[in-house]
Amino acid sequence: MIKINENYFKLQASYLFSEIAARVNAFQKENPGKKIIRLGIGDVTLALPKVCIDAFHKAVDEMADDNTFKGYGPEQGYLFLREKISDYDYKTRGVSISPDEIFVSDGAKCDTGNIQEIFSTDTKIAIPDPVYPVYLDTNVMAGRTGEYKNGRYENIIYLQGTKENGFVPDLPDTDVDLIYLCFPNNPTGVVATFDLLNNWVDYARKNKSVILYDAAYEAFIQDDALPRTIYEIEGAKEVAIEFRSYSKTAGFTGTRCAYTVVPKECRAYDSSEKKHLLHGLWNRRQCTKFNGVSYPVQKAAEAVYSDKGLVQVKKLIDYYMKNAALIRKEMTSLGYECVGGLNSPYIWIDSKMDSWDFFNLLLNKAGVVCTPGSGFGACGDGYIRISAFNSYENVKKAVNLIKKTLK
Ligand code: MLT
Repeated sequence: MIKINENYFKLQASYLFSEIAARVNAFQKENPGKKIIRLGIGDVTLALPKVCIDAFHKAVDEMADDNTFKGYGPEQGYLFLREKISDYDYKTRGVSISPDEIFVSDGAKCDTGNIQEIFSTDTKIAIPDPVYPVYLDTNVMAGRTGEYKNGRYENIIYLQGTKENGFVPDLPDTDVDLIYLCFPNNPTGVVATFDLLNNWVDYARKNKSVILYDAAYEAFIQDDALPRTIYEIEGAKEVAIEFRSYSKTAGFTGTRCAYTVVPKECRAYDSSEKKHLLHGLWNRRQCTKFNGVSYPVQKAAEAVYSDKGLVQVKKLIDYYMKNAALIRKEMTSLGYECVGGLNSPYIWIDSKMDSWDFFNLLLNKAGVVCTPGSGFGACGDGYIRISAFNSYENVKKAVNLIKKTLK
């Protein structure tokens, strides 16, 4: 008899963003004429930079000619892109990451979800709360957690982000093997300082742990005194895997391109405590299960690093950051405490009531979609997240509608 993976029964009813989409669709059906402004899921609205589109078109033309056509590419990504990443995203920060430590992929969501496969099923995991749901759900699916009780899964060490600690969780007071960190943070928008990351890297080295560092929103950092990559911390290459994405940076949410860095010295241990390098394992995983990102998409991503590309991408980031500033300013002036939005496209707001009630209030009265904080974990209850990804005009309209609703 075929048996299903019963770990799926432990999952909460539906993925957060699918649940929101379903509620918004139901509302739209009941109110067909009502205009809705979406500041929920962090999905970009501006077109791809012109330089990326030009490179994309050119690469499509190459695929139309037998002489330049490309079949399967390298599973790890084309060297032309990996060299640019190594030079621009790392060398410019004084960090040496070689192109063969970089694995180009179709998304940081997929990579942060898939990476747990290379670790043992009895790995002790520390996950922040609130948290991007993918880290937790993929470990539930893999059977690393117990049941869900009172808003928490058994066998997970939750790193609590609260008003008191500024939503930057403290280090655990127990040993953990695998630590998920995300800075600038999704959902709270808070950032990591050098000191904070130093503490985590020290912890991971002492405890023989690995840090999974999601830096998908790194391009939104405005403060030059903040680290842009965990590898700016001494010793991090031994203990950290980093995830980056072109989705929010360069408008690739629908085009799909990202990358993961697994440094050659990053290690884990087998059951007899013998050390092994993770680079080979991830490479083996990718070669078996992944056939790479399409050539035109990688060409479009490469264009991000051209002179024009750097300018055009900065313009996109500045545009969304102007939205973030407006949301933060207006919500603060309405008397709502906010964090984030200064070095990140997300504003995390104390809703002073149940998250879903506040979500419903904004949807029903203002026609504005946000994300209820409780969808990111128990510590998110009583908060909402507003995303800066939309047109400035829509964001302006949305904050005016919110003002009218909340005043
Ligand atoms: C979000 O809104 O948190 C993100 O868009 C989700 C994602 O990147 O998968």
